[in-house]
Amino acid sequence: MNTKDKTLQLLGGLTPEEFLAEYWHKKPLLIKNAIPNFTGLLRPEELAGLACEEDVQSRIVEEINGKWHARHGPFGDEDFAELPEQPDPKHRWTLLVQSVNHYLPEASELLQQFDFIPHARLDDLMVSYAPDGGGVGPHFDSYDVFLLQGQGKRLWRISEQTDLTLVEGAPLRILKNFDTTQEWLLEQGDMLYLPPHLAHWGIAVSSGNADCMTYSIGFRAPKEQELITEFLGFMQDKLSIDQITLTGRYQDADLTLQQHPAEINDAMIQKVDTILQKINWSRQEIAAFLGTYLSEPKPDVQFEPNRKISKRNFADKANNKGLVLDLKSQMLFTGTTFYINAEAADFTGVSATLLQTLADNRKLAAKDLTAAHPLDEHLLQQLYDWYLAGFIHYA
Ligand code: SIN
Ligand code: CO
Repeated sequence: MNTKDKTLQLLGGLTPEEFLAEYWHKKPLLIKNAIPNFTGLLRPEELAGLACEEDVQSRIVEEINGKWHARHGPFGDEDFAELPEQPDPKHRWTLLVQSVNHYLPEASELLQQFDFIPHARLDDLMVSYAPDGGGVGPHFDSYDVFLLQGQGKRLWRISEQTDLTLVEGAPLRILKNFDTTQEWLLEQGDMLYLPPHLAHWGIAVSSGNADCMTYSIGFRAPKEQELITEFLGFMQDKLSIDQITLTGRYQDADLTLQQHPAEINDAMIQKVDTILQKINWSRQEIAAFLGTYLSEPKPDVQFEPNRKISKRNFADKANNKGLVLDLKSQMLFTGTTFYINAEAADFTGVSATLLQTLADNRKLAAKDLTAAHPLDEHLLQQLYDWYLAGFIHYA
């Protein structure tokens, strides 16, 4: 369904189009009661449990007597035992866990509410827990973020300051000076959208006996330098495939005597320049690069292969139950090429429509599969391969 003209409570009554035109990447937006009755997706103990897992990225940030410290997980019980049980103004702390959407289906569903932003821009859902006063201090991020309040409350201060000097030697980026321009106390279900580079400072405020938990829906914006480096790597792989068209070799039948035999002369530079001009790329190659690069799993992501069954058996079960992407899978498409976890596949017609649905909604209902019955053999083989690789599962 196209939601572009529908006003969303999630956006404080704006349509996605209005939000994109007026706020996205431009200015902050406070949305009271963005998700009514939002009590959060997991309890503090469950978050701490995740932070103890080997493949989960987590941090504990502490401010002890005004000095900042950061530790990376996985953590053990002893790490939590060292933290003050009661709020202590001299020892504040917070626990932050990245990519919670890779572990919790509810977190992945929450992210789908932000489908008005392309999946290619989405990074992950980070969840933080902090007793009274805790947080990561005043800072700015390079990314857009929606900060959704779970249990407890958080006082958000923002600043329009241009002084972005950081505290020297701190293990995380803390602004040396912070001049509050505006502040809001966010309660359960409230949300604050912040564009990149806007200075902000979130301070946990406990409410009743609930400590603060904040859900950060974060977006990725690769550095230009990273895009270029990655693209050159992609092109290098491609050049080795295309070497058939690059069969020439350096030639200098026109060589003239030079005064210094050790000198790399201008004529040589010119010849190599001409050879290098053969490197070119099309928009299609850029699209292929983006599909591969943006669907590439983060280095710590592992997929668990599904138990081997016959292709027929798989087809029957998929038709009955439907299919879903693994929580860690990233599926994107451009034109008729589909990218899942950096693997590309081309499909057209009904098969392409089915795969678009799977990519957009992260699931393919049984009725969509049965409506396309019998599945094109090439598509069935592809889905079966993805199933065996653990990229997709039965719904
Ligand atoms: C948080 O502490 O939950 C949010 C961190 C941030 O300000 O980016
Ligand atoms: Co931030």
